[in-house]
Amino acid sequence: MVTAYDYPSALSVDRAGIDLLLVGDSVGMVELGMETTQKVTMDQMIHHCVAVSRGATNPMLIGDMPLGSYEVNDERALENAYRFIKESNMDGVKLEGCRPDTVRKIVDGGVAVMGHVGLTPQAISVIGGFRAQGRTAVKARELLDQSLALQAAGCFALVLECVPAPVAKVITEALTIPTIGIGAGPHTSGQVLVYHDMLGMTSHPHHEAFMPKFCKQYANVGEMISKGLEDFKADVEGENFPGEQFSPYKMSSDEEKLFL
Ligand code: KIV
Ligand code: NA
Repeated sequence: MVTAYDYPSALSVDRAGIDLLLVGDSVGMVELGMETTQKVTMDQMIHHCVAVSRGATNPMLIGDMPLGSYEVNDERALENAYRFIKESNMDGVKLEGCRPDTVRKIVDGGVAVMGHVGLTPQAISVIGGFRAQGRTAVKARELLDQSLALQAAGCFALVLECVPAPVAKVITEALTIPTIGIGAGPHTSGQVLVYHDMLGMTSHPHHEAFMPKFCKQYANVGEMISKGLEDFKADVEGENFPGEQFSPYKMSSDEEKLFL
């Protein structure tokens, strides 16, 4: 699974043959310049999901339910899940944390739900920042219990974020639904990375500091973009662009004589 947030990234994820595409609320950070995912709204999610659905037809499309869209009550959660299906062509939704009753309500309503436990970024003000979860026996057991509860509630898959590899392994073996790890080691059923992180296009000026430790960078797209823009500027200032080659529109010589 890889995230995507717009038409071109969705096309790329589709063409790469990736199985699942997540329109993550990480859109707030990597596309909208927010410091956390907490301010992302339903309308913003739908806006991005619509664009993604135009670009990707093969992967299963999952929309991330943003903070505030599923906690107030289960009816509101189901209504918002339906918005993802009806307004933006998602195939299912993902929601953070252990809320078995909410999951059950949405699944009973006919919408596939992916769970997400471990580091749940919408709750960073509660858990005290972006940090690994399940690092004591008690906390690891809690994560296992949450995972089993979410499976029993009807989740079709479960994201495990920032947990020790042995914990993710035990949870994966205990479940019949697939787990999808991010910073959770090699023993999960699948893996997910954030598009901008894995492709090296996080545009934050302090990129290094913001690059998660668990993320392998598969490309240097940000550097390519910067180089292209700098080369264009230098070419224009040095009068090397457009030149004869990129000035294709001609007048006939007769018209030219009349005009000039
Ligand atoms: O928002 C997101 O991109 C996510 C993934 C990291 C799982 O939730
Ligand atoms: Na998310």
